[in-house]
Amino acid sequence: MAEFDFSKRDSFGSKFGAIAAAAGSAIGLGNIWRFPYVVGENGGGAFLFIYLAFIFAIGIPVMLSEFTIGRSAQRNPFGAFRKLAPGKPWYLVGLMGVGAAFMILAFYTAVAGWTLEYIYQSIINGFAGKSSADLGQMFDSFRESSFRPILWFAIFMFMTSWIVLSGVKNGIEKYAKILMPILLLLIIILCIRSVTLPGAKDGLLFLFKPDFSKITGNTILEALGQAFFSLSIGMGTLITYGSYISKKDNLANTAVSVSLTDTFIAIMAGVAIFPAVFAFGIAPESGEGLVYRTLPNIFQQMPGGYYFSLLFFVLLGVAALTSTISVLEVIVAYFAEELNLTRKKATILASLSVSVLGLMAVMSWGTLADFEIFGMHVFGILDFTSANILLPLGGLFIVLFVGWYLGASRTKEELSNQGTLKAKYLSLFMFLVKFIAPIAIAMVFLNGIGILKF
Ligand code: PHE
Repeated sequence: MAEFDFSKRDSFGSKFGAIAAAAGSAIGLGNIWRFPYVVGENGGGAFLFIYLAFIFAIGIPVMLSEFTIGRSAQRNPFGAFRKLAPGKPWYLVGLMGVGAAFMILAFYTAVAGWTLEYIYQSIINGFAGKSSADLGQMFDSFRESSFRPILWFAIFMFMTSWIVLSGVKNGIEKYAKILMPILLLLIIILCIRSVTLPGAKDGLLFLFKPDFSKITGNTILEALGQAFFSLSIGMGTLITYGSYISKKDNLANTAVSVSLTDTFIAIMAGVAIFPAVFAFGIAPESGEGLVYRTLPNIFQQMPGGYYFSLLFFVLLGVAALTSTISVLEVIVAYFAEELNLTRKKATILASLSVSVLGLMAVMSWGTLADFEIFGMHVFGILDFTSANILLPLGGLFIVLFVGWYLGASRTKEELSNQGTLKAKYLSLFMFLVKFIAPIAIAMVFLNGIGILKF
């Protein structure tokens, strides 16, 4: 079989484009529904403090490790490990990343599809006059139905494929540069609406007031897990994106900018959601429930709610789209480079194969509601296995690879752009990837699979 022509590899066209694309990957459903809820349940400000510490001590090092691997190898995650460590089993880490991408894309696109239903309901004013119980019922019966969730899934998958098919520069980067500023604008508008509601203060207190008594061992692990999922690290998304970053860009700056933007947006999402939740006397409840059951309730009671509901679900959809793109790109780059397929063929093959799994995830509440393995339906299995097992394990091996296999001198070469930049932080970075990050991640992983209980 002919080899893929690596001289024709696509790449990002600008530094801003690279940051927008990576931030687009990081900012997603994880920020907008998961983060606010997890913070709220885990002591607000105290949790935030731990989360921020993890972003700096572990998240940024893992992200920078992925960029380093990707840019120095100029390959998809599987090919990258094979190129940097020829004849060694490290490529298995890349393969695991591609597997995780399949699983994440399948269930994530299902949730992203629900967003389209809620955009539609916002447009037709479908929440109006419904009680809180009615709205809960509306969400349940939508998920249990057989046709609409599948339709929305297919549409979302199609949009994702369309953008990926258009290429790295002319698809992923172009749309990230348009969508990310829109996302920022939408979330600012929603924050202003939320904090100007009467009674907003309680929501802000709930979010920011540190309650250290609520911190437990589990909280700490939750914070680390949230940091992983939110930053899109541990499965090679950022190895793939890193491979498209210009050799002239400063990787450390990029990793720091992306991580800070992701964290900022997560906090903004909390500011947009909690004051509204408290202002309307609604108890903050679990992730998917908060967004899809509780918020429509709030929107129909607040002045201008019709528009804010539409804005919110568009925001959620946009955030999800720039994330699904990044996950699909991992599989597409792998298929294209390893099977020597055109981008078009690779994209079609990848989206169709993910859709098989995705449809099973979508049908987890309907047709496949009774199909369970280990007491979990398909959606639950995909979610659990990817987030709690594959991401931490992948992240662990990624830092070990950079810390112990690539080592300081090869890492320095890449991070300093072959000696043109200073990379003064290098020894700190090496210390983090050799010791701190692997130990911390190992603890999360062992907890995730239940071997270690705190
Ligand atoms: N970071 C994304 C979010 O917060 C999810 C994601 C995870 C994307 C892993 C890519 C890889 O929604």
